[in-house]
Amino acid sequence: MNIAKTLKPKDQLKPKPADENNLGFGRIFTDHMLLMDYQTGKGWHNPRVEPYGPFTLDPAAMIFHYGQEVFEGLKAYRGEGGHVYMFRPAANIERMNRSCDRLCIPALPNEVVLEAMYELIRVEQDWIPRAEGTSLYVRPTIIATEACLGVKTSATYLFYIITGPVGAYYAEGFNPVRIWVEEKYVRAAIGGTGEAKTSGNYASSLKAATEAHEKGFTQVLWLNACDRQSIEEVGTMNIFFKIAGEVITSPLDGSILPGVTRDSVLALCRHWGMNVSERQLTIDDIIAAAKAGTLEEAFGTGTAAVISPVGSIHFKGQDYQVADGQTGALSLKLYDEITGIQLGKKPDPFGWVVKVA
Ligand code: COI
Repeated sequence: MNIAKTLKPKDQLKPKPADENNLGFGRIFTDHMLLMDYQTGKGWHNPRVEPYGPFTLDPAAMIFHYGQEVFEGLKAYRGEGGHVYMFRPAANIERMNRSCDRLCIPALPNEVVLEAMYELIRVEQDWIPRAEGTSLYVRPTIIATEACLGVKTSATYLFYIITGPVGAYYAEGFNPVRIWVEEKYVRAAIGGTGEAKTSGNYASSLKAATEAHEKGFTQVLWLNACDRQSIEEVGTMNIFFKIAGEVITSPLDGSILPGVTRDSVLALCRHWGMNVSERQLTIDDIIAAAKAGTLEEAFGTGTAAVISPVGSIHFKGQDYQVADGQTGALSLKLYDEITGIQLGKKPDPFGWVVKVA
């Protein structure tokens, strides 16, 4: 598919951020975006790169009313040899199509999307920051655009990708975060949309996150909606525990997001010969391990933060320290290994990295 390009004149490009060590997350956007349209009967068509800017949408567009939307999050890095790399991009686009299936959005052609995304990143490559821990965040999104208030699937959609330079996701950076075990609200239930990357999951998480922040915690630990015991995720990330040498994460049972970083951590730990399990753990198991001194580490995994060490877990009025509140050795090793692979600086035994430019 031919990708049309309408680029801004060089003298109208925005200034790049002066301080790459204070980029924050998700507030700075580049000069261009990628767009593609869908219409019933016509399919996905007209991929194009255009100047970044606001859309005009009908106030009745279905995205505003019923939330028929999916999105993804990936990163592009300026790495070894000055080249531009992406990490497992096909895995994100495949997941986006699985999310589309759950939200009744027509699937996108994987190869066209990947090629169009690489093209956008090549256009925007001067925006990729070079400071340690920074990257160009890439946000593919699909929204329902038909103007109709009937609850049904939309007949038209807009696919777009925006990008922007980012630093650490959390203000804590790579430092351990304090976690609140959420007993009142739930994120998702089996049969719902928990395993899809769709806006509604994030909207419904805000109340718990707000209340946890007010109490001084960075994120919430989500428990299973039915038994209110089994561990699901932490904030917007998958979660891992290391208990008595065993690395454990929740199984993909339908209510948690199948994270690309989660899958990469599992592959690396198995590659290193560690004892790795995808099995259900309960909050009682975690507290018992903390009391017995066998809870060695806990960390969240996600594209935005990569690895986010957990320093303490707050449950029923009590704080339980993890790894003495420090970043554990495995968290550090995984962070170094994954970011090293992402930058093309470490061997890539699984063929995860794609050189884009
Ligand atoms: C990630 O950890 O990559 C996420 O999904 C967070 C994102 C919603 C900002």
